[in-house]
Amino acid sequence: MKKGDEMKSLFIVLVLSTVGFATMHFEKNQKCSECHPKIYKEYKTSQHANSTVFADPIHGAVYDKHPMKNKMQKYRCAKCHTPTADNMKELLTKNNGVIPDPNNETQNEAIACAYCHRITDTLPGKVMNKNVISPDMRKYFANLKPNQESPFHAIETNVEVFKNGKLCMGCHMHKTNKKEYDVCSTENTNMDGNNNCLTCHMPQVDGAPSILSKAKKHAFHGFPGIHGDISMLAKYVKLSINHTKKNFTVSIDHQATHSSTLHPLRMAKLVVSIKRNGKVIKMDTKKLLKIIGNAKGASPKPTPPWLADRTIKDTRIPANTKKDFNYDFKLQSGDKVSAKFGYHLVKPKALKKFDLENNEEAKKFIVISNEVFVIK
Ligand code: HEC
Ligand code: HEC
Ligand code: HEC
Ligand code: HEC
Ligand code: HEC
Repeated sequence: MKKGDEMKSLFIVLVLSTVGFATMHFEKNQKCSECHPKIYKEYKTSQHANSTVFADPIHGAVYDKHPMKNKMQKYRCAKCHTPTADNMKELLTKNNGVIPDPNNETQNEAIACAYCHRITDTLPGKVMNKNVISPDMRKYFANLKPNQESPFHAIETNVEVFKNGKLCMGCHMHKTNKKEYDVCSTENTNMDGNNNCLTCHMPQVDGAPSILSKAKKHAFHGFPGIHGDISMLAKYVKLSINHTKKNFTVSIDHQATHSSTLHPLRMAKLVVSIKRNGKVIKMDTKKLLKIIGNAKGASPKPTPPWLADRTIKDTRIPANTKKDFNYDFKLQSGDKVSAKFGYHLVKPKALKKFDLENNEEAKKFIVISNEVFVIK
């Protein structure tokens, strides 16, 4: 072996053996904004840019009640909520008094641009999946080959996990608690090239991906979900109506490749009313949710995620399913049936438990589909 080669292989061994142990460093989001201003602007509105206990009051409220904060003084949530924290190891260690710090810049980077674009693969894990992060600070992975190079960083395109959406699954696949119960998962997902997470949550929108590019479109980085602007997702949730002489049915055609609402805090709702001769007649509201808990007492009761060992109830609409809701009510010609389907970020019953009664965002009803059917 020549001397240079020896140095090189020594270097490689060093790099490989430090992955996972040493602190990783990431370029700042602000840096990316210099050349990718449109993408940066979209990203700033997303939950990925606001995933910390400081920027997301709902995450903050749940962490505030969590024994991990109160008994163990640790923040395991960091793995997904602040993955570029420069004190990750300390945050994950029990009883050292280290919890999230609003003055730590690297924590405020949230789910940073450079973090996602350094994911080369995701590996299955029992408690949660694992992201494989490339050690090179200035090499970014993506799918489509751009027409030009970047003056700031290297680019590797045609990366499988950026094509099939698998890069989302390091954090979104599942999270298991101490009781080995899976509290939150994105199950039954389609990982093919045509209809995966990216199709619906990162559609192509107008505008060049960088100030140096002449391309007309780029992948939307606002990551529409239940927070914020949900209109981009509306086309995947369709309402229709059918009626007989005796009763009627409202159907929700839910075309997402995962069930309606993923996080156990959520509640979906179908609100139906009928306008007849100027009067409004309200139907019973259908609530779709997943209730998790345990059976420490006589019968199963709801608990926060860290105490749950079972699913008590699950009325969510599964992936790619059309679900019918029946109303025992006789419609007549001229009736106007209003149907609204949407979500609460936090179930009304859980608001008090997490001291979120005064948080408007947590409380409000976010409507994704809204139809009025006139009966002939
Ligand atoms: C000095 C300008 C500059 C800076 C700063 C910069 N980029 Fe880029 N980036 C480019 C250019 C130019 C391209 C080539 C594609 C294009 O023209 O948009 C590119 C392409 C990319 C691609 C590949 C896109 C594809 O089409 O496959 C990714 C991913 C990317 N940048 C991420 C980042 C991230 C993350 C940061 C911040 C850490 C960053 N860039 C900072 C100029 C820059
Ligand atoms: C394995 C990755 C992972 C870990 C670890 C993790 N989360 Fe999350 N968390 C997520 C993902 C992904 C979402 C978005 C899920 C969704 O909206 O359906 C999320 C969303 C949330 C939300 C909803 C936020 C909102 O604004 O509606 C809360 C609350 C939350 N997490 C609390 C926690 C707490 C507290 C911890 C640590 C005790 C934690 N999470 C650890 C991945 C994780
Ligand atoms: C949650 C993960 C994630 C985050 C955070 C993220 N990206 Fe991306 N980015 C992707 C994926 C997935 C694609 C689309 C697949 C592809 O084209 O490679 C993409 C595409 C791109 C592209 C190519 C756009 C196109 O359509 O030509 C650029 C440039 C880029 N990202 C830059 C950034 C910048 C800058 C930030 C932060 C402001 C950022 N990304 C944050 C996952 C992410
Ligand atoms: C065919 C379109 C489609 C695909 C594919 C898709 N989603 Fe969704 N997603 C939706 C719709 C629609 C919603 C709104 C909530 C609902 O009714 O499911 C949503 C909601 C979400 C939410 C918010 C849920 C909550 O409880 O806060 C997350 C997180 C999410 N999707 C992640 C993913 C991930 C990760 C993938 C890939 C594994 C994916 N989605 C694939 C359409 C899609
Ligand atoms: C590093 C971990 C991580 C990766 C990788 C990741 N996410 Fe997320 N994602 C989260 C967390 C954590 C949240 C919740 C943040 C919060 O609300 O506090 C979230 C929130 C979301 C939401 C918003 C949910 C809502 O209720 O509004 C969507 C949509 C989403 N992610 C889609 C994706 C897609 C698509 C990908 C892949 C391109 C992806 N995520 C990759 C961790 C991740």
